[in-house]
Amino acid sequence: MKKQKTTDKQQGLLLRTARAAMKKAYAPYSNFRVGSALLTTSGKVFSGCNVENASYGMTNCAERTAIFSAVAQLGPKLEIRAIAVVNDHGVPCSPCGACRQVIYEFGPDATVFYQGAKGKKEAHITELLPEGFRLK
Ligand code: THU
Repeated sequence: MKKQKTTDKQQGLLLRTARAAMKKAYAPYSNFRVGSALLTTSGKVFSGCNVENASYGMTNCAERTAIFSAVAQLGPKLEIRAIAVVNDHGVPCSPCGACRQVIYEFGPDATVFYQGAKGKKEAHITELLPEGFRLK
């Protein structure tokens, strides 16, 4: 996969799209709404929100909702260039471990934008998930 830098404009679009998706969150148990938006290597944007369940473990995070939605639209060739995640509490929220593995599956070179303790942060997926699992 060719390295591509995410421009400020694309970053802004991802954050705005993630915030819009956050408003759709179904989070009656945690009251913690999360939104995510991803940019594919071909320039398309997909978004998702967290979807909780009374059986708490069935909850789907915003990042995975966005990724699964992209696969449902584009098919299995999805390549993630960048992904942003925001929450409605303005607190540090990097992708959870499960989402890091799913991001890595479709974006081994992806840049992740998220709220850190000292404001917006940007990290390569392999910084967040060193030695991610691969079958090949
Ligand atoms: N959550 C996400 O959607 N993404 C993350 O990266 C971390 C956590 C959701 C899951 C649950 O609905 C709520 O945040 C509280 O854990």
